[in-house]
Amino acid sequence: MRTVFWDENRDALCMIDQRLLPAKFELACYTDYRAVAQAITEMVVRGAPAIGAAAAFGLALAARQSRAGTPEGLLADLREAASTLGAARPTAVNLHWALRRILKTASEYPGPAEKLRQVVMAEAQRIADEDVEINKRMARYGAELIADGDTIIHHCNTGALATVDWGTALGVIRTAHEQGKRIHVLVDETRPRLQGSRLTAWELQQYGIPFDIISDNAAGYFLRTGQAHKVFFGADRVAANGDVANKIGTYMLALAARDNGVPAYAVVPTSTIDLSLDSGKQIPIEERDPAEVLNIRRDGQPLSPPGATARNPAFDVTPNRLISAIVTENGVVYPPFEDGLREVTG
Ligand code: MRU
Repeated sequence: MRTVFWDENRDALCMIDQRLLPAKFELACYTDYRAVAQAITEMVVRGAPAIGAAAAFGLALAARQSRAGTPEGLLADLREAASTLGAARPTAVNLHWALRRILKTASEYPGPAEKLRQVVMAEAQRIADEDVEINKRMARYGAELIADGDTIIHHCNTGALATVDWGTALGVIRTAHEQGKRIHVLVDETRPRLQGSRLTAWELQQYGIPFDIISDNAAGYFLRTGQAHKVFFGADRVAANGDVANKIGTYMLALAARDNGVPAYAVVPTSTIDLSLDSGKQIPIEERDPAEVLNIRRDGQPLSPPGATARNPAFDVTPNRLISAIVTENGVVYPPFEDGLREVTG
């Protein structure tokens, strides 16, 4: 099943509710684009490419909700919906990429409003279908970087759940596993929302890939003692110079990998590359509710004193000097990244 899909029977946009996994597997379905924006903010759906596809279908819903009888009126409603959807989460550029792509297609369409609604839906469906195909292409390039017997540290969730299907960094690991390479994954639990232990471990179980969950703090230990051979992660936005914004903790992981001579690879579709930004310093970093850090309980007991405050940046930027290569659907780019990233996005 795809993570995000249009359900013909329900006539609705459906997605796997990732807040509930691994305890419960449930779908959440939407017929209102504002509710889709809310679902993105609340992380019912998460992961850069999955957010992009959800936003694209969100615009298809907005087109159906609009009462406009002219293409100009419909386009104005779509632009308003795009600004609501675009504000749902700030760091993953795929969200804005997908919205821009739909608006471009819609604004270039010469036909009547009724037909335009179908054109928007078809473009959203194309974005979703292409994502699966792109991930599989990327996975074949990335799998060449994995050797039989590798132990790999993986951060956050970059699998089928973070995309429409298959995955980015986890998609690479999955393809290498299907090629018969024996791989062991050390799954960073990925505080504070635990996308590693909740989602990546759940996916690896389904694929039959051996793994151990580790606390994020343990990654340096495994790298320093020679027990990890490679580090793989995805990205929410890559700047033109190859700086990579990804889930909080990626920077510390890449630092520890470099200090121990272990390669660190980012796996990204070209829709995640933002050539309009010269460096990662310009990437907006989402800061989420401190409650995500503070509201952790064990045996029903709070793990911080009442009144404690917290900071909760959801992403950090890993400078290009710590990235060994960036894997895309159009090939692997090695440092220095500027020219290569332009080439693969061209
Ligand atoms: O906050 P999330 O769970 O949406 O963050 C997701 C990540 O950081 C992923 O690593 C990233 O989107 C790339 S995976 C396709």
